[in-house]
Amino acid sequence: MFNRNTGQNGVTEESVRQALSTVIEPELHRDLVSLNMVRDLQIEGNDVTFTIMLTTPACPLRGKMESDSRQALAQIGGIGNVTINWDANVPQDRRINQQVGQQFRNTIAISSGKGGVGKSTVAVNVAIAMAAEGARVGLLDADILGPNIPMMMGIDKMPPPRERKMIPAEAFGVRFISTGFLVKADQPLVWRGPMLHSAIRQLLGDVDWGELDYLVIDLPPGTGDAQLSLAQAIPLSGAVIVTQPMQLAAADALRGLKMFEKLDVPIIGIVENMSGEFFGSGAGEELAQKYETAFLGSVPLDANVRKGGDSGEPIVASFPDSPAAEAFREITRKIAARVSVLTLSNKDNIIPIHMIN
Ligand SMILES: Nc1ncnc2c1ncn2[C@@H]1O[C@H](COP(=O)(O)OP(=O)(O)OP(=O)(O)O)[C@@H](O)[C@H]1O
Ligand SMILES: [Mg+2]
Repeated sequence: MFNRNTGQNGVTEESVRQALSTVIEPELHRDLVSLNMVRDLQIEGNDVTFTIMLTTPACPLRGKMESDSRQALAQIGGIGNVTINWDANVPQDRRINQQVGQQFRNTIAISSGKGGVGKSTVAVNVAIAMAAEGARVGLLDADILGPNIPMMMGIDKMPPPRERKMIPAEAFGVRFISTGFLVKADQPLVWRGPMLHSAIRQLLGDVDWGELDYLVIDLPPGTGDAQLSLAQAIPLSGAVIVTQPMQLAAADALRGLKMFEKLDVPIIGIVENMSGEFFGSGAGEELAQKYETAFLGSVPLDANVRKGGDSGEPIVASFPDSPAAEAFREITRKIAARVSVLTLSNKDNIIPIHMIN
């Protein structure tokens, strides 16, 4: 028999913290207590309630952390109901604010050596999936000469400027900006290198972005001016490389990857897009293995992905139950987790006190 009032049964703040200090955060490889992820601990009789503060709302490993926590707490004699709440506070890559003055916690470039592999499609769907998880997300169309984010997001105008700053358009919970708003669709953009550079700086700096957990940046194809301009204009928390499943495409992806390495931008991982019977599959994973980076997942070739892009309703919004949408959500969570690890691995960076929710 145990006594509820004296805590002889062992359900105390100390025993709960002790138990939770054996639960390891699977990405950061440290325990929940020393990472300060256990918050608002309340004990009522034998019942325990607390919040796990994640480093991203798009956390892929909630389920594991929950079952590990419950298992650890079950070791405490006489434990009653355990209620776990979730919150998130995204780590901040401090270089970004220092260099551009914007309140972005992380920047994620979506790139590849090759055209038409689905960079913009990945950028749009990942941004929307992140926002759906509760993150504050911006999307920058850095394809200055061939902007198609407005078409994909289904909005062709941005709001009027305020106090000489551009205001991003918003759709599916994502704020976005594009030179597509500034030119007519049938008017070709013929800009030279220095203009590209200043256009990217303006889209980053002269926009009232507000506070963002993630700025997703859609790059044009290639390994040239645009990538270089971007890396010079803003610190990048990491780059996602998109490839098609064929070997030839993977060779282009490798070039893209090497370029970011030269620019000192960490590689978040590789996405294989359009996999399936037609193009095959496997080159993305092979490349990730060979290069010792993360394989983030493959998105199947699916006509609804293209239709969604053409009609301004990306597949994660138009067919959320489709395998392609599910793939995008999984990829998104992997990206978010990798970005937390990358950003926290730089000891200058912090988890800000300010909470998301
Ligand atoms: N998984 C998929 N299944 C079917 N169609 C897809 C898929 N991913 C992308 N597409 C389609 O392929 C075309 C090219 O995709 P997208 O514009 O995203 O590529 P991109 O790499 O950004 O191209 P660019 O190099 O021109 O910027 C688009 O019509 C898009 O809708
Ligand atoms: Mg594109």
